[in-house]
Amino acid sequence: MKREKWTGKMGFILVSVGSAIGLGNIWLFSWRIGEYGGAAFLIPYLIFVFGIASVGLMEEWAFGRSQVKGAIGAFEKVFEEKKKGTGKIGAALGFIPVAAVFSIFIFYAIVIGWLLKYFVLSFTGAFNVINIPEYFGTFTGTANTIGWHAAAVIGTMVIVFFGVQRGIEKANKIMMPILFVILLILVIRSVTLTGAMDGIKYIFVPEWSKLAEVKTWIMALGQAFFTLSLGGATMLVYGSYARDDTDIPSASIQAVLFNFMASMLAALAIIPAVFAFGLDPAAGPGLLFVSIPTVFAKMPGGYIFGILFFLSVVFAGFSSSVSMLEPAVEGFMDKTGFSRGKTVLLLSIVAFLVGLPLDIDMAKFGTWADITTIYVLPFGALVSAVVFFWVFGADKARAEINKNSNIRFGKWFEPYGKYIFVFVAFIVVILNIAYGG
Ligand code: PHE
Ligand code: NA
Repeated sequence: MKREKWTGKMGFILVSVGSAIGLGNIWLFSWRIGEYGGAAFLIPYLIFVFGIASVGLMEEWAFGRSQVKGAIGAFEKVFEEKKKGTGKIGAALGFIPVAAVFSIFIFYAIVIGWLLKYFVLSFTGAFNVINIPEYFGTFTGTANTIGWHAAAVIGTMVIVFFGVQRGIEKANKIMMPILFVILLILVIRSVTLTGAMDGIKYIFVPEWSKLAEVKTWIMALGQAFFTLSLGGATMLVYGSYARDDTDIPSASIQAVLFNFMASMLAALAIIPAVFAFGLDPAAGPGLLFVSIPTVFAKMPGGYIFGILFFLSVVFAGFSSSVSMLEPAVEGFMDKTGFSRGKTVLLLSIVAFLVGLPLDIDMAKFGTWADITTIYVLPFGALVSAVVFFWVFGADKARAEINKNSNIRFGKWFEPYGKYIFVFVAFIVVILNIAYGG
């Protein structure tokens, strides 16, 4: 069967931005920027995103494009070419990143399920009626989430079922523009609320002393990797569907800028509104499922803005979840020769069933989310970087990244990828083990 490609550079950037923009931008970034020094946090964040993570992005894209395979097949080819008979080792190594993002999909789908429920709640006007903090505690961790979880898996499954162009690219082409428009509307509403100024200050007033704290740099580095979906599988498989004439360096600058813009818009949509109503700018689920609905219950026009908000976050979720399922689907199809339809169905059922115990046990959910995002995902990113820059070779890596690009990286890029990037990816793994959680 002929391998599908994105329709062009635009489609490729769009799907990658779709993968990048997700819960990391919404429930982590907006909190972290306030917590770790406001505008001062942007310094380490931008250094790491542009100087380090963007190299990881180009590496994964170029790796996939050069081998025209996802991680399992690509690692296998690179190993086999290097030394006959070692392909199997490569395939086994390639399984690590694919399994890593698949295991993230397992819990991410549960969160999308909660979001779907909250989207429906916003429609029914429930935020004005229920006790919001109590509601979240009694909804999550119970069997009531199972149907919503199933809906999230099915939604992802349907998009991936239709394949690269008619599924993933099409869905992103609909969801991403709407996401940006909604975010803009929400920002305008949020910053014009009385009392919004405290939130704007929380985001922008730099607290330079935070730059002296190691934790600030660790958080910025972890954020840079997670937000660009670096785990050795997602961007790699997306790259494998990119056309040879795609300018990878310029695409990476654009993707990074769009992703950063979305993070800033999300922060400006959320934090000032949360401050205006004297609420807690908490991180994670507490922000999305408690503080935010409370804001909409109190805000003038909150009914409409609540609907828009949860719709946009659902879109951010699905455009990322498809990018977590696709690497496993590609790998499985490639190895077994199964059809896309059968593969997608099978893997979706597996993801749903493995996720079921997490539905009804929040402690298990938390452990799973921590282990997969803090330990497993960065390890996948490291493995793919080592295989690309060391096994495939830094010279060939640079040539592939430069191919058909207006921006041409010089010879210096080879030691940069081989030593600096790989070293930093290694440090991310170590720091996450030491400080994560
Ligand atoms: N970048 C996504 C987010 O910020 C998460 C993600 C990680 C997506 C790994 C795909 C692969 O939510
Ligand atoms: Na997304």
